[in-house]
Amino acid sequence: MPSASPAPLRLGDEVPSFTARSTQGTISLSDYRGRWLVLFAHPADFTPVCTSEFVALAQAADRFAALDCALVAMSVDSLYSHLAWLRLIHDRFGVRVDFPVVEDPSLEIARAYGMIAPDAADAGTARTTYFIDPNGILRACTDYPATIGRSVEEMLRVVEALQRVESGKCLAPANWSPGSALLTTPGNTADAALNAKGASDWFYSETPDRNRK
Ligand code: BEZ
Repeated sequence: MPSASPAPLRLGDEVPSFTARSTQGTISLSDYRGRWLVLFAHPADFTPVCTSEFVALAQAADRFAALDCALVAMSVDSLYSHLAWLRLIHDRFGVRVDFPVVEDPSLEIARAYGMIAPDAADAGTARTTYFIDPNGILRACTDYPATIGRSVEEMLRVVEALQRVESGKCLAPANWSPGSALLTTPGNTADAALNAKGASDWFYSETPDRNRK
């Protein structure tokens, strides 16, 4: 029988804290309270898709910083593997990876996050991304197979959308992009339905994106 393992995290859960070695020294997840955080797992160092993701994310680091959003990467590889890989990325692509890359050789973090099945031999297929709010609450999560790299533009869009809808007053519609119209959170009373100007305005009404930085 596989050993018991925590269930995968659900949206709205407080994410488990951890302290671990990284390429920027020992970090604790609690250090990131008060900021948005994208915590992303990659299957393995020295692999092609993961390398392309690291190059793209390092090049977009300023755009995440402008959203007051930190980036933290993690995998089962050791710290020394991470360091050697970052050196190769620097030499081959001329890109410095300055966000922390955490080591998780014992799978302690992967298991705490429910990232891997209890009976999995390793965490080699996890390409999971956690979008964590300033209170340490999981707001969105994506899971990609090892064979498909994540879209950095989509990661940025999710962070900005989460920031926009945080007040509860608006929603991000299909294909929303920063600067385009949002939707007003619908009313949930008969008054809202009956007093609205148009028949559908109580549940479908656009509002400009005024919060673009
Ligand atoms: C990659 O990132 O290219 C990769 C990682 C694990 C398995 C296969 C591909």
